Formats: sequence, C-alpha cells, structure tokens
Amino acid sequence: MSIPALPTVWNVYNLRGSPFFQDTLVQKHDHRSLDLFVGRQAELDSLRRYLHGRDGTRQALGGVSGVGKTTLVQMLKVQAVADHYFATETLVPFMTGDTPETFFGRVLGAVYETILANRPMSGGNPAMQAAQQMVRAARLPTGGGGLSLFGFGSSFAKGVTLTAPKGILIDGPRVLRDLLTMIREAGEVRGLLLHLNNLENLTTGDLAVAADVLLSLRDNLLMQEGLHVILVGTTDAVHDVVNKYPQIRNVFRTPVHLQPLDLPEVHELLRVRYHHWRLDRKRAASPPVEPAAIDRLFEAFQGDLRGLLKALDDGAEECIGLRHPIASAASPSSVPPVALAELAEALQARYYALMHSELDKPRVGPLEQWLRHDPAAVVTQKELMSLWSLSQGGVSQVLSDLVGAGYVFAHPRKGKGAIQYGLSGKSRLIGGIVG
Ligand SMILES: Nc1ncnc2c1ncn2[C@@H]1O[C@H](COP(=O)(O)OP(=O)(O)O)[C@@H](O)[C@H]1O
Ligand SMILES: [Mg+2]
Repeated sequence: MSIPALPTVWNVYNLRGSPFFQDTLVQKHDHRSLDLFVGRQAELDSLRRYLHGRDGTRQALGGVSGVGKTTLVQMLKVQAVADHYFATETLVPFMTGDTPETFFGRVLGAVYETILANRPMSGGNPAMQAAQQMVRAARLPTGGGGLSLFGFGSSFAKGVTLTAPKGILIDGPRVLRDLLTMIREAGEVRGLLLHLNNLENLTTGDLAVAADVLLSLRDNLLMQEGLHVILVGTTDAVHDVVNKYPQIRNVFRTPVHLQPLDLPEVHELLRVRYHHWRLDRKRAASPPVEPAAIDRLFEAFQGDLRGLLKALDDGAEECIGLRHPIASAASPSSVPPVALAELAEALQARYYALMHSELDKPRVGPLEQWLRHDPAAVVTQKELMSLWSLSQGGVSQVLSDLVGAGYVFAHPRKGKGAIQYGLSGKSRLIGGIVG
C-alpha cells in the first residue's frame, strides 16, 4: 500500500514540499537526487581525469562555505564508480581532538565499509576479516574502543571514534595495504576513492593538528598504492593543511578552488528543483519566489548556496499564503510568487530574533555596531579594533564566534595581506540592505 503524502502549503505551487532543502545531493535519493546537479563540468572533469593512470592520488578542493564542495565530490564519486573505482556516500571527517590513531581508525573503517558496499561478497577474505576486527575494536565503546558515534551501515557516517586501540598504527597500515591489494587483484577495479571532508569546521589549532596527523600518516595512509584521496574544506583551511609541511605539499596536487555558481546556473538549479519536486507530474510547478528576489538574495549571500537556500526556505515559510488573497477553487494556482520586499522584511525580522537568541550580548553589540557602520564593508581585524574599541584578543574572540555562528565570513587570504572579513547574507538581511 502506498501511503499518500499529507498536504503542505507548498502544494499551492504544485510542489510536494520545500524545494529549498540544504542537504547535499545523494545518488538515487528520491527527493535529493544527483539528477538535481547543475554546472561544474570543468571542475569535475579535471578532478576525474587526475585519477586516471595513477596508482594513487591526493587532491584537495577548496571554496567558501556553502559553495557546493561536498555536493561536487558526491558527483565525482558517482563518476569514479562508473570508471571502476570503489567509493561510497560516506565522508570521513577530521574532528577536534583527533590523533593519528583515531584518524587512521576512522579511515580504515571507511575503507572497510567502502569495500563491503561495493563488493559484499569480499567479506570472507582474510584481509577483510583482519580489518573487521580492527574496525570493530576501534568503534566499540569498551575493549579499547572509546566513544563511537558511527551508525554502521548508515549512509552518512559523521561520527566515529575518538580513541583507538593502541596497536592500530602497528598492524593497521599492513591491513590497509592488504585491503587495497585485494581490491586491485579482484580485477577491473582501479582503486578506492576516499572523501575527507569538513576541514571548514575546524579552528586554526585543529587545522594544525590535521596537518600533523596527515604528516605522520603520510607513508602509511596517503601514499598507499590504490588509494585516491580528496580533501575538502574552505580555501584557507585546505591551503593551511596542504602547505604546512613540504612533505605533504609535494605529494598533493595543487588545490582546486571552487568559484561560486553564476546567476544563470543558480536559476537553473532552482528550475530543476521545482521540476523535480512537482506534485502533479502532468502540470508544471510555479516558482514560489520571484526571480528578481533570487538575484538579490544570491548577491547578498556571495556564492553561499546553502545560506541562500536556507533563506529561501525560511522566507517562503513565513510568506507563502499569508500576504495574498486566498486562491479560489476556480483558479487554484493563482497564488503569486513571493516578492523580494516581503521576503526581505520577513527574513529581517526572523534573523534579527535569531541573532538575539543565538548570540549573547558581547557578540550582538559588536555585530550591530558593524551593521550600523556599513553592512557591506569588508574589514580587517585592525579596523575592527577601532570600530569596536576592543583589544586584538577581544576582536579575534568575537570574530571567531561570529564566523562560527555564520554571521561573518573570512574572505580567502590573498598573498601576505591581512585577512578580510565581511558580513554574511544572514547579517546583511538583518541590516536591511537586501530588498
Ligand atoms: N552543482 C550543484 N548543483 C545543484 N545543487 C548544488 C550544487 N552545488 C551545491 N548545491 C546545493 O547547495 C547546497 C550546499 O552545497 P554543499 O555541497 O553542501 O556546499 P559546501 O560543501 O561547499 O559547503 C546543497 O543543498 C547542495 O545540494
Ligand atoms: Mg560541505
């Protein structure tokens, strides 16, 4: 029996639900399918081509938060599978507090799971059994394991161990090598693509640790034959991790940096989503938001697609059906799209309230000062010291909290100049400069 969906307010646009979800796209997922992927052909081709004809590769992908990095690598993995590499939806994160042991344990778990997912019948192989024991020990809360957040078999394994069995770096590298040899001897399989994600959530200190971890695992992990690694994070995070040590820089390809989609691509992204999410497949969906509003919001969000989609989702939720006469049964599709002015007003109120609930006074004060000064300004820490009358330490603390909460973002560094900061789309909406 198929259970009918409950009606939602989006149905007035002939949509099944909000087309503005912010999750990454997933192969074969009904609502978030990679069929919704647009653009990025040149970057995909470049990352894909680099894998071929090499026994092992190390690439890095940088770009501002929300620009589409994780989604791009999801797509790359689908292509890699078509090219006879093993890959899965699983991402391997770096986490605060990582050591070479914990990180290695997490990678080994991901490699094991990737092989199992691509070749379920290989479970009985001696290399797989050795790996299974080690991974199990690394994930169990007792018996040398430590806290494990890993939902085994779940498609998006975010967690995983923070402590690992003591011996993992003694026997683990051999087990990993045996696994990689096994898959390549199975014929047809060229290697395994590993997606290391999430550098963007790390502090400067954690990034230095991530670089140290990679350095100490260079030969035992990065350089293993048959392993293809792609490291993902913000532009500066990727730069800092790859370039901290020459021994790492020399074995990585120069990082690829993802530029924001252009405006026509953003409209295409939405058009494809509306089409995919339509309720009555025989009719077209009508856009819930006016195209001109999309233009202005995208400009405010400066390439951050996730922020844009969140704003559209939040804004539409506030506005749909509330500011227009209700459609009659005679003309059911007469609800007009939400316009920029009402969207900006609703979002300003919503994000203003959010700011007060998410941030304490010592953060709200400086943020409001910046908004009053110039919401479009791009500033350095030094300029903020005088705007806020705070010490350098004070400024850097406030900044790091505001960046962490998504109110401010750091522009990628250019050469040796000081880092420049700007207000995020969310802050610009609070400041009322959109609309
Ligand atoms: N090329 C693309 N085509 C379609 N949707 C995309 C594309 N790139 C990103 N998105 C969407 O934008 C949002 C943010 O992308 P994501 O990959 O999570 O960004 P990042 O990893 O850079 O922070 C997601 O909802 C994703 O589905
Ligand atoms: Mg991401």
